[in-house]
Amino acid sequence: MASVSVQNLSKKFGSTVALDQVSFEFEDGKFFALLGPSGSGKTTLLRMIAGFENPDQGSIQIDGKVVDHIPVEKRDIGMVFQSYALFPNMDVQANVGFGLRVRGISASETKRLVGEALELVRLSGFDDRRPHQLSGGQRQRVALARAIVTKPRVLLLDEPLSALDRTLRLEMEIELKRIQRDVGITTIFVTHDQEEALTMSDQIGILNEGQLVQHGSPVDIYENPQSVFVARFLGEANLLKGQVDGSSVNLEVGGTIQTRSKPASPLVICSIRPEKISIHKEKNIAPSSSNQIAGRVNEHIFNGTSLTYLVQCGDQVVRVFVQNLSGELIAPNTPVHLSFRPEDTLVFPDA
Ligand SMILES: Nc1ncnc2c1ncn2[C@@H]1O[C@H](COP(=O)(O)OP(=O)(O)OP(=O)(O)O)[C@@H](O)[C@H]1O
Ligand SMILES: [Mg+2]
Repeated sequence: MASVSVQNLSKKFGSTVALDQVSFEFEDGKFFALLGPSGSGKTTLLRMIAGFENPDQGSIQIDGKVVDHIPVEKRDIGMVFQSYALFPNMDVQANVGFGLRVRGISASETKRLVGEALELVRLSGFDDRRPHQLSGGQRQRVALARAIVTKPRVLLLDEPLSALDRTLRLEMEIELKRIQRDVGITTIFVTHDQEEALTMSDQIGILNEGQLVQHGSPVDIYENPQSVFVARFLGEANLLKGQVDGSSVNLEVGGTIQTRSKPASPLVICSIRPEKISIHKEKNIAPSSSNQIAGRVNEHIFNGTSLTYLVQCGDQVVRVFVQNLSGELIAPNTPVHLSFRPEDTLVFPDA
């Protein structure tokens, strides 16, 4: 168990800025998810914490001690690489046991610990296989076993479940979370899967173009995104342009609405999550304090437990999610009224 603190980390590769002044405190024993578009610096940040990459600027501490000049093998970190990076000419037993042998653990103890780790990732009996005799998902699980077998202080996972099918992935998510909780390993987990980030982590950090643009609990980031980028990146968001008029916003799609906070620039973008919107055939069904805009149903998508409506409002399509309470669908072309609360209407400056 250990806390990891990164301060002002910056890294350039040629003219590419991979990390730009990233500072963060990864608390002891917590599970962090790092999200961000491709190329935003996620792998670079993990490799730097592990010691495979040196920052141009900034510093890293593990448990309050500066590790900038401490080599990879002395940082006591387990890492699963995006590309698995198994040793191709070693079998599974040797791959997983590698870190233990390096540490001088006896052959019998190594065998026992490797057996335990393989059981955790559901690969008991695969000891003698070479990486080329394994599927992508199995290789990924060998990499995971290799990372946890030494019981490191910090676990860095770069999309460790990306090659697994959905069923196995859900199973491994639960296992991983259990291992993390039982052993209390500080874990930093890179994923492209929003649901994975939301369900598994204590904290989420979002990177964009090398900068940590927001961090917080999953609920906090989802409910209080601080930029249009974060609102769109985590979850879905309807973005409606408007002009500020006193304390109200006149939307381009028609309608005057109230927002959660006071608009701070004359031109704004309002963001409303699809599940925060109600859809009605009649006008004025929602409380009078609600925002209302008018539209026409373009399309409905029946998902069983829920319905998605694509509603044409002016020249924009607004997505609405509703729970399937009545089993009744509103047909395409029906004029509708959309309502949503001012507190669910976020407002950002239109840059
Ligand atoms: N060794 C390198 N040499 C040159 N450029 C690099 C190197 N490593 C990373 N980069 C660049 O740095 C930026 C950040 O890369 P990084 O691998 O950290 O992104 P990422 O967020 O992990 O992306 P992905 O989601 O695709 O894995 C990218 O523009 C990438 O091309
Ligand atoms: Mg990456």
